[in-house]
Amino acid sequence: MAHYNSSKRLRVLVTGAKGMLGSDVAEVFGSAGHEVKACSRKALDITRKKNCIQTTEEFQPNIIINCAAYTKVDDCENNQETAFSINEKGAGNIAEAAEKCGAYLIHISTDYVFDGTSSRPYQENDPTNPINIYGLSKLKGEEAVKSACTRYSIVRTSWLFGINGPNFIKTILKLALEKNELMVVNDQQGCPTFTKDLAKTLLIFAQQQPTGLFHCTNSKSCTWYELAQKALYFSGKNPDMVKPVPTSAFPRPAKRPAYSVLDNSKFVEMAGFKLRPWEESVRDFCSFYSNSKVLTKKTAI
Ligand SMILES: NC(=O)c1ccc[n+]([C@@H]2O[C@H](COP(=O)([O-])OP(=O)(O)OC[C@H]3O[C@@H](n4cnc5c(N)ncnc54)[C@H](OP(=O)(O)O)[C@@H]3O)[C@@H](O)[C@H]2O)c1
Repeated sequence: MAHYNSSKRLRVLVTGAKGMLGSDVAEVFGSAGHEVKACSRKALDITRKKNCIQTTEEFQPNIIINCAAYTKVDDCENNQETAFSINEKGAGNIAEAAEKCGAYLIHISTDYVFDGTSSRPYQENDPTNPINIYGLSKLKGEEAVKSACTRYSIVRTSWLFGINGPNFIKTILKLALEKNELMVVNDQQGCPTFTKDLAKTLLIFAQQQPTGLFHCTNSKSCTWYELAQKALYFSGKNPDMVKPVPTSAFPRPAKRPAYSVLDNSKFVEMAGFKLRPWEESVRDFCSFYSNSKVLTKKTAI
């Protein structure tokens, strides 16, 4: 990955800063020398417009990074009001606040805006057609951003895993301690993306401030089954304990797109590099995750 290098110190406001991506974004921008205001949901509730306007008026950010969202995909089906209130209205509120204070907004969106019927990686201008409420609410959020502000990028990413939040890899590693065999779906394909890698990439967006939609994920794609196997392998466990099953084996409230690989060409053209392959990021995540768990245990003793 190319290295970010800028002498300009920016004032960066991060929403959802206690979340999996938000916490890495706050840390990465702080380490790069920027002045960061990392807002938890308690400090800045994006569903409250006044709260958004007041916070931005006080801090006067150059950049706002909206990592706040209602991300519980299955729960969104039964909590539609909450989903639209945070993912659509909240995104619009933040965009309006950005416009008012003249900040550049980086808004995070998702591969779930697509229906998964494509046979090639999705480009930014491909037709959207979400098949669950989460995807629809995030698509409405994109529209709200576009209509409320002029200086923005919408960064669609997918299959996030990171140290500071629950995610698929952590679940697999936990289940591997409890069971001899794990059934994992092998007919959904996407691009696993490490939140640390994405957070570093957002530095490029903050520096170049391009306008519009971008797809940004780790390179290469896989199925959840393949991801589970690699996570076990890199954690020193037996990858063969995972058995492939079809999505129909695990009925869930929200449908998932069968194929949601995002074409990163537009991002690569802008940034001059592509993110590393997901396997490398999973290897680093697993090594860091197991070491941090050892450290926690030692500290507790
Ligand atoms: N996770 C994925 O696989 C994935 C894939 C593609 C795209 N994305 C997108 O990536 C972004 C970051 O996702 P993530 O995985 O980091 O999610 P996350 O861990 O659930 O973090 C989201 C954060 O937003 C906060 N939040 C919720 N409602 C809020 C509100 N009204 N005001 C302010 N903050 C609020 C949450 O706080 P509480 O926990 O206190 O509610 C949480 O800290 C989201 O836009 C998501 O749609 C995620």
